[in-house]
Amino acid sequence: MSTRIVLIAGSNRPDAQSSRVALYLAGRLQHLGAETDIIDLATTPLPLWPAESTNNPWQGLANRLRAAQAVVVITPEWHGMACPAVKNLFLYAGRRELAHKPALLVAVSGGQGGAYPIAEMRSSSYKNCRLCYLPEHLIVRHVERVMNPGNPANEDDQRIRARADWAMGLLLDYAEALAPLHERHRRPPEDWLNGM
Ligand SMILES: Cc1cc2nc3c(=O)[nH]c(=O)nc-3n(C[C@H](O)[C@H](O)[C@H](O)COP(=O)(O)O)c2cc1C
Repeated sequence: MSTRIVLIAGSNRPDAQSSRVALYLAGRLQHLGAETDIIDLATTPLPLWPAESTNNPWQGLANRLRAAQAVVVITPEWHGMACPAVKNLFLYAGRRELAHKPALLVAVSGGQGGAYPIAEMRSSSYKNCRLCYLPEHLIVRHVERVMNPGNPANEDDQRIRARADWAMGLLLDYAEALAPLHERHRRPPEDWLNGM
């Protein structure tokens, strides 16, 4: 059975570059033998938590996250921050969806940025849901110049494409190695249901 990966495209901007990067990465994951599913927060916006359950797409998204063995979390850098849309998703998502699943972080920048959202997601997002970020991550800089259809446009494009393939191969290996853990540890002991 092939590994199922959910890619979260974490920009809520229509025609976001993050959505385009998600499509590119999903294509490469399929090439590596994985099944993919893209949750695009631009086309499926989640209301700011807490929100009414009527017309809230969360339950559908939760089921899709639960079905995944690993996750790719893509966030643009906006004003030196991770996108609020993706942080909002982490207010909804908990251990039932994500505990002990490996995740590859991807930051997207229109310029030379991208380090801040990586640091932000690593320090706040995983604590209660127990998502396991890989030590490896990707920063897609000058995003409009790379990962476009066709052959690599330049040396930077070639490098980020090769690096993305390698990081996603690693993600698939982690997914296989950690699969027994998320089954075994989905519910922590009653006294520490939340992380410390
Ligand atoms: C409100 C806003 C703030 C931004 N701030 C930054 C920034 O601080 N650093 C940076 O590298 N890029 C910044 N950008 C550019 C984004 O990185 C760029 O739009 C890129 O395409 C990723 O965003 P997207 O996925 O929404 O398209 C900003 C873009 C927006 C819309």
